[in-house]
Amino acid sequence: MAKNKIVVAYSGGLDTSVMVKWLKDNYDAEIITFTGNLGQTKELIGLEEKAINSGASKAYVEDLTKIFLEEYVFPSLRAGAMYEGAYPMACSIGRPLLAKTLVYVARKEGANMVAHGCTGKGNDQVRFEVTVGALAPDLINIAPLRTWEFKSREEEIDYAKKHNIPVAATKENPYSIDENIYGTAIECGVLEDPMIEPPADAFQHTVSPEEAPDMAEYVVIEFEKGIPVAVNGKEMDAVSLVKELNKIGGRNAVGRIDMIENRLVGIKSREVYEAPAGMLLHSAHTELERITLEKSVAHYKNLVSQEYANLIYNGLWFSPLREALQAFVDKTQEKVTGMVKLKLYKGNIIVSGRTSPYSLYDPELATYTAADQFDHKASEGFIKIYGLPYKTINRVEQKAEAEKNQLV
Ligand code: ARG
Repeated sequence: MAKNKIVVAYSGGLDTSVMVKWLKDNYDAEIITFTGNLGQTKELIGLEEKAINSGASKAYVEDLTKIFLEEYVFPSLRAGAMYEGAYPMACSIGRPLLAKTLVYVARKEGANMVAHGCTGKGNDQVRFEVTVGALAPDLINIAPLRTWEFKSREEEIDYAKKHNIPVAATKENPYSIDENIYGTAIECGVLEDPMIEPPADAFQHTVSPEEAPDMAEYVVIEFEKGIPVAVNGKEMDAVSLVKELNKIGGRNAVGRIDMIENRLVGIKSREVYEAPAGMLLHSAHTELERITLEKSVAHYKNLVSQEYANLIYNGLWFSPLREALQAFVDKTQEKVTGMVKLKLYKGNIIVSGRTSPYSLYDPELATYTAADQFDHKASEGFIKIYGLPYKTINRVEQKAEAEKNQLV
């Protein structure tokens, strides 16, 4: 009997395929693989067989798409979480769920170790290991990519050939791609030069602005308590809704992001993303909050959004602070119900209408017509009191200046 039992977070790519055999030999271990489906378009059929043929004794493939959207993505949307104000974190937010399910499989199988295929200079290794540690402190984390002897893809391929590990014969993609239903992250290759515009072949789900239709397209998104529930008047479950918005956004060149971001491990990296549904949902949700949240709540929530985004990005989804902020966010979302109309035109998202039964926009207070109910006279007293501290500063300073001049 093997000494250890390891559950591997398995994608079926070269790294994790090689890893199955490598761990089996180097750790004297029985290997079980776990693959989480987060709605990626990549084929998952045949993955179990591939894992077994690579040396695993058992392979789990779990469809987590619905849970991913309902319990991870939508809470982050309601929180308004955008890393560094730009990235809806499709990749980052999937990690805690994958790590949690990895722990679940490890427990079910009575494993003493878990392993992942993240590199030693990314954020994902942190997200995986911190989450596993928080949920199951006794499980040992292994990250072979940080320590193994292979220096290149070619060396891994040689190893795979030698040990009859099935590796896909497909042409190697020039980019490193991480994909799920909420978005795609594209790195490496020519993208490492921040002055080079991403080539057309970097994108999988969006057309370029030049290819987008010359006519604008409208889309109406409805929310209930901050959760998106319908598109263009049609009620949809989470998975169908996000798929539909990806399609609508994608054909209008919406959702491309090109940014230099600050990684948790201290480096700046150039990241290219596609997240059509994510960008549409954040735009619409933010706009709905503009009419439904009271001013001070809206302003304060911006601070919370930033902190909440950092917690996701930095691998602290399962932390007391994220949970406490969630309680705040949930309270703010009670009246975020209504609909927003967006106009999409060659990559642009233009807000063109919003309405809510809880709208705090009061036409009688806002209008400049005869229907105006605003008490203009009351403003005089308001300004007197409101501006008092600043008048006082000036008066005191002038007095002090005069006294100083008298002394000399
Ligand atoms: N920088 C992004 C993040 O930390 C995406 C990383 C994606 N990984 C990849 N293999 N391309 O959330």
